[in-house]
Amino acid sequence: MSIQQLSIQRLRNLSQLDIQFGSGINLLYGLNASGKTSILESIHMLALGRSFRSLKLASVVAQNHTDCLLFAKVQNPQGVAVSLGMNRRLDGDHSIRLNGEKLSSIAELASLLPIQLIDPNTAGLIEAGPSVRRQYLDWGVYHHNASFFGLWKQAQRLLKQRNSALKCGTMNATVRASFDPGLVEVAEQLNTLRAAYLKLLEPVFFELLAGLVDLPDLKLGYYSGWSANRHYADVLEETLERDLQLGYTQRGPQRADIKLTLHGVNAVERLSRGQQKLVVVALKLAQGKLLSEAKGRKCIFLVDDLAAELDWPHRKEICQQLVNLDTQVFVTSVGPDELTDCWPQEVEVSMFHVKHGQVSQH
Ligand SMILES: Nc1ncnc2c1ncn2[C@@H]1O[C@H](COP(=O)(O)OP(=O)(O)O)[C@@H](O)[C@H]1O
Ligand SMILES: [Mg+2]
Repeated sequence: MSIQQLSIQRLRNLSQLDIQFGSGINLLYGLNASGKTSILESIHMLALGRSFRSLKLASVVAQNHTDCLLFAKVQNPQGVAVSLGMNRRLDGDHSIRLNGEKLSSIAELASLLPIQLIDPNTAGLIEAGPSVRRQYLDWGVYHHNASFFGLWKQAQRLLKQRNSALKCGTMNATVRASFDPGLVEVAEQLNTLRAAYLKLLEPVFFELLAGLVDLPDLKLGYYSGWSANRHYADVLEETLERDLQLGYTQRGPQRADIKLTLHGVNAVERLSRGQQKLVVVALKLAQGKLLSEAKGRKCIFLVDDLAAELDWPHRKEICQQLVNLDTQVFVTSVGPDELTDCWPQEVEVSMFHVKHGQVSQH
C-alpha cells in the first residue's frame, strides 16, 4: 500500500501541488512554515477524512477559499493502482471518489489507507484522556477484525438511545429490557476483540520499546470500561440508580482504555516527557508491525518533525525500525541533512524540498 502520486489544491498554504512519491522513505525538508506538516495533513485527510491538527475544516482550507481538493494515485495491496479523490467544502458538502465511483461515507476510506502518525504531540497519548488511547486501540482492532466496526457502531447507537431514555426519565423496566440485553451482547463482543488485540500487540510493543528505552517495569494493561471479571449485565444492573441520577451510562465499552503503569503507578507520573514520547513511538510502530505480520497489510507512517525533542541515537533507532517495517514513510525535517546518518546506508531516501508551499524533488 503506497501513495504514488498526490495532488493538493487549496489546503493551508498549498495552493496547487503535484508530487510523485517513492514507495519507501520520503523525506520532506524545508524551513519552518514552508508547508511540510500541511502535506502530511493532506495525506491524513485523504486517508481518514480529517486533519490531525484541527477539527475545523475552516482552518485547513486555504484562506479566502471555500474548499480543498485532494487526489492520490494509490497502489493497493494487490499492486493495482487505485485513484482516490476528495473534495471538502466549507458549506459541509463533500465528495469522495474511489476510481471515479462516489463513496457514501468517509468510513469506507479508513480500511483502504491505514495510517499511523508520529508527531511532536505524540507523547500526548499517555497524558491525554482515555478517548485518545481508546482511539489508538480501536485503530488496531478495526484493522484486525472485519466485524469490529459494525459492533462499534451498534454500541454507539444503543448507548445513545439508552442515554436519551436515562436523561428524559423514560427509562423503565420495559425500556431496559429492549436496550440492555443487546448492549450487553455487543459490549462483551467488543471487549473480547479489544482484549485479544492488546494481547497480540503486547509482545511486539515490548520488543520495539526495548530497542528505544530501558523500561523493564512498564506494564500495558487493558480496561474494558467496567470492573474486570464482572459480567457487564450485572454492572449495568448495579449502576442503574446512579445512571438515572446522572442521565447517562457510566460504565461500558465507551469507557475502554489502555492503562500504562510503572511500578503500579500511572506512567504519566513517572516517565519523563522524552520517555513518554518513546513509549508512544513504540506503541505506534508496534501497530504497524503487527498489522504487517498478522494481516500482511502495510500501513503508511507520517512522521512529523522527528528531530524535535529526540537525540540522535533515538532518531537513528526509530529510522531503523521504520525501514524494517518496509512500508511507505513520510518524514519531515528542517534541513536535508538532519537525518542523513540515521538511515541504514543501503536505504534510498526520496528527497523533497518544500519552500513557500511548493515542492521540488531531488
Ligand atoms: N488556512 C490557511 N490558509 C493559508 N495558509 C495557512 C492556513 N493555515 C496555515 N497556513 C500557513 O501555512 C504555512 C505552512 O504551515 P506548516 O505546514 O505548518 O509548515 P511547516 O510544517 O513546514 O513548518 C504557515 O505559514 C501557516 O501560517
Ligand atoms: Mg511542521
